Amino acid sequence: MIDQATAQRIKDAADIVEVVSDYVHLVRRGQNYMGLCPFHNERTPSFSVNRKRNFCFCFSCKKGGSPVNFIMEKEGLSYKEALLHLAKKYGIEVQERELSDEERQRQSEREGMLVANEWAMKLMEHDMVSTADGRDIGLQYLVQRGVTDAAMKAFHLGYALDSGHHLADEARKAGYDLEVLKKTGLIGTSQQGHDYDRFRGRVIFPILNNSGKVIAFGGRDLKGGLAKYINSPESAVYKKSNELYGIFQARAAIVKENKCFLVEGYMDVIGMWQSGMKNVVASSGTALTDGQIALIHRLTDNITLIYDGDAAGIKASLRGIDMLLNHKLNVKVLLLPNGEDPDSFARKHTPEEFREYVDKHETDIIRFKIDVLLDEQTARDPQKRIEAVNSVVQSIAHIPDPVARDVYVQECARLLGVTEESIIQSVGRARAMLIQKWKKEREWNATRESVAVTPQPADTVGTSSYQAQLDANTALSQQPSRKTDIPFRPLETPLIKLCVRYGYKGVFQPMDEDDDTLIDVLDYVQEELESDGMRFSVEEYSLIFQELQRVKPMFYEALQRRKMEIEEDVARKRREGIEEIGSGSYSIDELKIKESKLEESLREYAASEVNEYVKDWPARFLSSHENDIIRSTSFDLLREKHHLSNIYANAPGNEKEEDRLEMLVPRTILEWKSEILNQRLRELLRKFQDMASNMNIEEEHSLQAKLNSLMKLRRKIAKELGERILLPKSQNSNK
Ligand code: UTP
Ligand code: MN
Repeated sequence: MIDQATAQRIKDAADIVEVVSDYVHLVRRGQNYMGLCPFHNERTPSFSVNRKRNFCFCFSCKKGGSPVNFIMEKEGLSYKEALLHLAKKYGIEVQERELSDEERQRQSEREGMLVANEWAMKLMEHDMVSTADGRDIGLQYLVQRGVTDAAMKAFHLGYALDSGHHLADEARKAGYDLEVLKKTGLIGTSQQGHDYDRFRGRVIFPILNNSGKVIAFGGRDLKGGLAKYINSPESAVYKKSNELYGIFQARAAIVKENKCFLVEGYMDVIGMWQSGMKNVVASSGTALTDGQIALIHRLTDNITLIYDGDAAGIKASLRGIDMLLNHKLNVKVLLLPNGEDPDSFARKHTPEEFREYVDKHETDIIRFKIDVLLDEQTARDPQKRIEAVNSVVQSIAHIPDPVARDVYVQECARLLGVTEESIIQSVGRARAMLIQKWKKEREWNATRESVAVTPQPADTVGTSSYQAQLDANTALSQQPSRKTDIPFRPLETPLIKLCVRYGYKGVFQPMDEDDDTLIDVLDYVQEELESDGMRFSVEEYSLIFQELQRVKPMFYEALQRRKMEIEEDVARKRREGIEEIGSGSYSIDELKIKESKLEESLREYAASEVNEYVKDWPARFLSSHENDIIRSTSFDLLREKHHLSNIYANAPGNEKEEDRLEMLVPRTILEWKSEILNQRLRELLRKFQDMASNMNIEEEHSLQAKLNSLMKLRRKIAKELGERILLPKSQNSNK
C-alpha cells in the first residue's frame, strides 16, 4: 500500500550514513565513512559509505547498496518491508495515500480476515489442551508422533473440535462476523443454508506468512476419512503460490545458515525443526512456483530439496529444477532412504545422524540429474541417451552465470561421454532460445501496463519466468557475475554508464534551430541506436535504459518541485544579499555593480543546483529501484570507477567528463558501432578465405564488393573516431 510519492519520500529521507550507523560504527575518512563490514567477519574495515551517492559498499565481500538494499539484506526483508522499516525509522506515515473506496474496502476486508484467523488459531490452540477431546484426540496424536511442546508452540498447532459448529458458535459469541470467517474458508454454508465448521476433528497447522500473519490453515484428518489434509482455500489473504509453510519460523535460521531445506509436508517441516534443522520450509505437496522461490531467494542462495528415495520422489525431484537454476540458486538434492520422509527419518535418527546423512548425501542438482537420467538402461538405448543429454543441456542452459555453466558443461561431457564442444554448442543454442523466449514474454508483459516495474509494491509484479528472474535476484547477496558471453558488453557498458549518470541532461542541439530545449542524452542515444537498428544486447542495460525513459515524466515532476525549492532559496538569498548591500554605503554606480554581481551569483547557484539534481536523480532512483536487476546493475554502474576508453583519455584539455558529453556520447556509440562492423568484416574475410579456392568469379566479385563497401564504411567510422586504420592481418596476407 506504499504509494509512489510516499516510497519516494522514504527513499529521500533515508540517509545511508544514518541507516548504516544503526549497525556499524563508522569513522569518517575524507568524503566517505568506513567501518567493519556487517556482512562478513573482518578485522580491518573495508566497508565504505558514500554519503553523496547515498550508498554503501564492501570492497571485500562486494555487498552494499542503497539504504533500502542495506536494510533488505541486513534484516532479510522484502523490498516493500524494507521501505516500511525505513518509514518507521524516519517517522514517515505510510498509509497516507488516499485509498480509493474500493481499495479501502479490500484493505479492511483483508485486515478483518487476518484478525479472525488469528483469533481462530488461538482458539484451536487453546482447545487442544483445554478440552477433553482436544487432549485425548489431537494432543494425543501429536505426542504419539513425537511432536514436542516446543514445536507445538512454535507452530501454533491446534485441534478443531468435531462438533461441526463449535468454531461458528464461538465466533458469534466473540462478536465476529461469520461472513469474514466464510471468506477465509474456516466456515462453510450448507445447501440448506446452515453454517458449519470446515475443519472438524482435525489437527490444525496454521500457515503463517513471511511476517507472521495467519493466512490459512491445514488440518490433518485423525479419523481415517477420505481427505488426509484439508487446507484453506485461496482468499484475499492467501495466495497459495506465494507462500511456504514454515517460512516465518525458519526465516532467521535460513539467513543464519545461509541455506534453506525444502520438504513436502507439514510434518516434515516439524520433524526437521525438531532435529535442529530449523531452516526448513514446505511447498505443501505442490510444485514450487516462482513466487515461492523468490521468497526463499531473499534469504539465501542455497537450497536443498529433500525427497523420498522412491521412484515418485526421484521423479518429483527432477521437476522444477530448471526454474530453480534460473533463479540463480545453488540447488542441491537429498534423497532419503526409500520409504522415508524427513519426519520419519528424524524420528528414527538422532539429530547428529540426520545432519551427517545430509552432509554425506546432498548432491549437486545437475550431477544428480545426470545420475538419474543415465541409469544403465538408458545408457544402452541411443534414443534415450540423446533425450537424457538434451534434458541436461536444457537445465544447464537455465543457469545465468556463464562460469557456472562452463563448469557444468565440462562435468556433463565427462559423465555422459560426449565431447565438450558438442555440449557447449547445444547449451549455447538452448540458452539463445531461452533468452528469445524471455524477451518475448517480457515484451508481452510490457504491453500490460500494470506490470510496469517501478512504483508497484513488489508482490504485484508479474510472475513470468523472466520477470521472476528479475525479481528473484537479490541485489546484495549476489553481485551479478562478470558476464563474458555477450561480445558487446564492454562497449555497451560505457554508454549505459553515461546514460545512468547524465541521462536527463540536455546536451545536444536539436535540428530545429528555433527550439531551444536541448536534447537529453537518453533521447540522443535512443535516436542513434534506432537509426541503425541497434539495441543494448545486454538485457540489464536495455532494461535500465527503458526504465529511465519510462520514468522521465516522474523525473520532470520531481525537478519541477526541486526548482521551486531552489527558487525560494534564491529569493531568500536575494533578500539577504540586498540587505547586506543596503547596509553598506555605496555610490549609485557601485550599488548597480554589486547588484548585478549578486544576480549573477544567484543565477549560477540556481543553475548548479538544478544540474546537481538532474545528475543525482537517476542515480538515486535506480539504486533504490524495487526491481532487483535494475537496482544491482545500476549500483554496479554507479559504483565502478568510470574508466574512459583510451581515445577519450587524451582528449584535449582537462575538462570534466560532464562538460564533454557532446563529444563523449557520440564517440561511445561510434566505438560500439565500429566494433560491430569490425566483427562483420572479420566474418566476411574468414568466409572469403574459406571459400576462395572453389568460388567462381561472380561469387568472388560479389563478395569482394560487399567487403569493399564494409571497408569503406569502416574507414569512415575510423576517421570519425580519429583512429588510425589498421588492416587485419588476414587481409594483408591475402593479397
Ligand atoms: P504427505 O502425505 O506426505 O503428508 O503430504 P505428511 O505431511 O507427511 O503427513 P503425515 O506424515 O502423513 O501425517 C505432503 C503434504 O501434501 C499436502 C500437505 O501439505 C502435506 O503436508 N497434502 C497431502 C494435502 O494438502 N492434502 C492431502 O490430502 C495430502
Ligand atoms: Mn509424513
